[in-house]
Amino acid sequence: MAKVIAIDGPSGAGKSSVSRIVAQKLGFLHVDSGALYRIVTWQALENGIDTKSPEAVAQFCETVDIECRPENGRIAYYVGSVQPGENIRKPEINAHASHVASVKEVRDKVTALLRGMVKYGGLVVEGRDITTAVFPDASARFYLTASAEARAMRRQKEEVEKGIANQTAEEVKKSLLARDSIDSSRKYAPLKKADGAIEIDSSNLTLDEVVQIVYNSSSEALGLRGFFMGRNILLGITGSIAAYKAVELLRLFVKNGDNVKVVMTKAAAEFVQPLTFSTLSRNPVSIDEFAPVKQWNVEHVDLATWADFVVVAPATANTIAKMSCGIADNLLLSVLL
Ligand code: DC
Repeated sequence: MAKVIAIDGPSGAGKSSVSRIVAQKLGFLHVDSGALYRIVTWQALENGIDTKSPEAVAQFCETVDIECRPENGRIAYYVGSVQPGENIRKPEINAHASHVASVKEVRDKVTALLRGMVKYGGLVVEGRDITTAVFPDASARFYLTASAEARAMRRQKEEVEKGIANQTAEEVKKSLLARDSIDSSRKYAPLKKADGAIEIDSSNLTLDEVVQIVYNSSSEALGLRGFFMGRNILLGITGSIAAYKAVELLRLFVKNGDNVKVVMTKAAAEFVQPLTFSTLSRNPVSIDEFAPVKQWNVEHVDLATWADFVVVAPATANTIAKMSCGIADNLLLSVLL
């Protein structure tokens, strides 16, 4: 089962930066749910739809085809073959997005897209209703907030830095508060702190401090049986017995949602191949079962900088030890099999 970390909160509380970094640390995919509402809004405006008419928006949203796929540690969105980019970050989108996001049909569509993403592995999802409506059973849930002044200052700085707009902090604050009010008072899935969610006020915290709180609570909640969570692992084994054990190890990674990346030495690959899984394993397995564990051929990876752990069978330990110890100080050699 994929693991989900859910982070809600008002605009400008720092959700995006925190989610992105925590996802990277956990080896999870970052999911910006607000971008999906922005895409529907952008498309509606491009097509001259009245965003204040729930009926018009509901009807129009059926026609918007959004493709979601994992790319560089996040879920990327495409409309046709186009990535929306900064088109969806402009102030005019902000003004209309809250209205579009109030429409039930839009929320249903976005919720279905978000829930479908668990097939890609562990997720850190940020938004307004992730902890309450989309993933109420998430492994860890956070409500990230900050004073209106702190949020407005951050957003304004971001807009100027990215060259998206040149509003004053006061103008940004006005627009934030207007959106907060619509987002929190709407009928369907309004923004609110979920019971049991961990509340973090980031007004006087640095980004690093917030990341630490979210990361520590998340890894604790995930139980980090995933000692290997998000790690890069070199599987260097030979022999059928070791291969059998390696299959069990891969199974454990998948079960824990560890999201590890595994490379194999050539010799290991010969023993631990999808086809041999079924003959070696007591319970026959299918290739799909191991899809969340990414496997590459060892030749494509610079081991010196890539591997966090080397998992070896005793028989191959010497060879691998020689190979790895010569090239990387930080390589931890684990003889597990
Ligand atoms: O986080 P953001 O500013 O990119 O969000 C854009 C709009 O979408 C904002 O009006 C809130 C809304 N939204 C929502 O209703 N539910 C979510 N899960 C995420 C965003």
